[in-house]
Amino acid sequence: MNGTPLNSINSSSPTPLLPPFLLAFSIKSPAAYLPLLKPSSSSITSKITPLLHQIPNPYSPILSRPFSSSLFCEPDSNANLSRLYKTSKELNIPLTVNAASFLLRASGRSELVEESLILFNDLDPSVKNTYLLNVWLSTLLRSGRVKDALKVIDEMFESNDDFNCRPNDATGDILFSFLLKRERNEELLSEDEIVNLVLKFGEHGVLISSFWMGRLITRLCRNRKANRAWDLFTEMIKLGAVLESTACNSLLTGLAREGNFNRMNELMEKMVEMDIQPNVVTFGILINHMCKFRRVDDALEVLEKMSGGKESGGISVSVEPDVVIYNTLIDGLCKVGRQQEGLGLMERMRSQKGCAPDTITYNCLIDGFCKAGEIEKGKELFDEMNKEGVAPNVVTVNTLVGGMCRTGRVSSAVNFFVEAQRRGMKGDAVTYTALINAFCNVNNFEKAMELFNEMLKSGCSPDAIVYYTLISGFSQAGRMADASFVLAELKKLGIRPDTVCYNTLIGGFCRTNKFHRVFEMLKEMEEAGVKPDTITYNTLIAYASKNGDLKFAQKVMRKMIKAGVVPTVATYGAVINAYCLNGNVNEAMEIFKDMKAASKVPPNTVIYNILIDSLCKNNKVKSAVSLMEDMKIWGVTPNTTTYNAIFKGLRDEKDLEKVFEFMDRMIEHACNPDYITMEILTEWLSAVGEIERLKKFVAGCEVSGSTAQKASART
Ligand SMILES: *[C@@H]1O[C@H](CO)[C@@H](O)[C@H](O)[C@H]1NC(C)=O
Ligand SMILES: *[C@@H]1O[C@H](CO)[C@@H](O)[C@H](O)[C@H]1NC(C)=O
Repeated sequence: MNGTPLNSINSSSPTPLLPPFLLAFSIKSPAAYLPLLKPSSSSITSKITPLLHQIPNPYSPILSRPFSSSLFCEPDSNANLSRLYKTSKELNIPLTVNAASFLLRASGRSELVEESLILFNDLDPSVKNTYLLNVWLSTLLRSGRVKDALKVIDEMFESNDDFNCRPNDATGDILFSFLLKRERNEELLSEDEIVNLVLKFGEHGVLISSFWMGRLITRLCRNRKANRAWDLFTEMIKLGAVLESTACNSLLTGLAREGNFNRMNELMEKMVEMDIQPNVVTFGILINHMCKFRRVDDALEVLEKMSGGKESGGISVSVEPDVVIYNTLIDGLCKVGRQQEGLGLMERMRSQKGCAPDTITYNCLIDGFCKAGEIEKGKELFDEMNKEGVAPNVVTVNTLVGGMCRTGRVSSAVNFFVEAQRRGMKGDAVTYTALINAFCNVNNFEKAMELFNEMLKSGCSPDAIVYYTLISGFSQAGRMADASFVLAELKKLGIRPDTVCYNTLIGGFCRTNKFHRVFEMLKEMEEAGVKPDTITYNTLIAYASKNGDLKFAQKVMRKMIKAGVVPTVATYGAVINAYCLNGNVNEAMEIFKDMKAASKVPPNTVIYNILIDSLCKNNKVKSAVSLMEDMKIWGVTPNTTTYNAIFKGLRDEKDLEKVFEFMDRMIEHACNPDYITMEILTEWLSAVGEIERLKKFVAGCEVSGSTAQKASART
């Protein structure tokens, strides 16, 4: 190959200048010739190449630099570049590092990766140095050849003896900025692989920058690997990494999210040790998470530390708390019912320059007072914010409307809302839901519908919840025609009702004995692919049981089990109740046994009460008494209703011994007798001359009753 190119020179080439030209090259610095090489871009190669062909081989090394320089002047004409490159190869002119890097970069940029690969492999080993390899690395990464890139890095690590090729800070930056920059790179390497790379670089004395370290920590923490992040962090410090507060903040956030307060403290101490200044973000994270975990006092302590007032725990930096930090704290205080202290903090905000309370400050406080039932104070704050020129927003309106509705002041809520609208504020679906719900609760459906229509007209976009609220309200009140109307409106919006919505409707239709509508709903659910849940089945079973339709109840229960919906204690309760009402206690007991054996449903007081009452009424007092023992085993406490049922049964059996036993047990469990208990016992015991025993019982109940009251008052 080497010999042939010279043949191709034809006489038509404009080449008479050759000797002086060459001479110049050898004397002057190549830079001097750059202007000469530059003119009119692409034409240059056409001039130079033929010249090069005529250079006798001994001159080639001399030409190497100017030749490479000429590459820099080329515009992005890759064909020309590769031609130049080919020529250099043919003439055996080695490329300089810069030229090779330039070529690699250019071919990489124009997605001629295959060519750059060949080019790289062809390169003279002596040209390869860290700079060139870094260029190559970024070319590979840019074209998505991560595996090849990692191979290059391995080679760099292994080239220990060759100092020229060792990875440097730029290598780390190229690699980690690529791996950590975009989300889509998450599939390329797992966090663990990246961590290992970081550590490997660290061991070779190349420390990842604080910025990328922060990114990596964030990613680890986002994937719930805060411990791994912590380990990496401490390891990197050991290796001497200089980390800034940003990286520390990332770690702090991760630890905080997992509620690892010990580690958070440790980290804060480490920051002090390493002289890393916590910034306002650091304190914000601390305070935010302490408040989230309801450790408001700790959060307040951090605030004191920030202000530099107290010097404790080593943190004595003076970082001015900002509005966000104050708001977080005020919110935290309000959430634990310390809104009065929240007011104090707002005063403190006012006294600090540039930290005036804003809408959020007021919203938190108003919410705090409303939740505590102090609506008047909330309203006062609302007036105050208007006076201070802090604009209320829809959250403010909703907080107050919600608060008023919750405390039963529906008309105040409406008046307030009307007034707010008059002042230019707007409500949203949440506002209307609160109001509509409140009116439904007091059975004022006219007003509820009026608000509903107002909402539709107001142009605020309604959500499904408003509709559900109305449907539920109407269903509960048995106004099924209205409920159906709202359902139709909901469907008009293209919203598919969910299981909860269907359940309220089915419940309503059951209560109003519109059984064909129940089936309609069930069919609709099936067609829409909305799966019935426990409540759906229980509603149906309870309805069937109440109507004595045991067959249907059993059928639904079988269907329920087949659909994989586990029957609950309420399901069994409904069926058992149905059998008892039907006078079939034996069957009820069978189902009760099934329930305890086959399912993991523990029985409750409701079921025992039904059975004990029914057994006693059917002269099976012995079985009822043994059920009382069964309750003990299952740890279910009998209540007054249970005792009344068993007392009635025992009275009919005239079983004094047992009744005394249960009377003692009642005192022991501090279960208060009611007037039914007293009626049964007084009548029976005085008739059989056991007045003393009755007196003792009453006295015992008074003692245990008062201690029980004290106990419940304490909790
Ligand atoms: C250099 O490339 C440009 C654009 O691709 C082309 O027009 C020009 O003819 C090329 N010059 C040479 C000498 O090949
Ligand atoms: C006893 O418990 C049942 C079921 O929980 C309940 O319905 C009943 O009202 C309770 N009776 C008393 C007196 O608390």
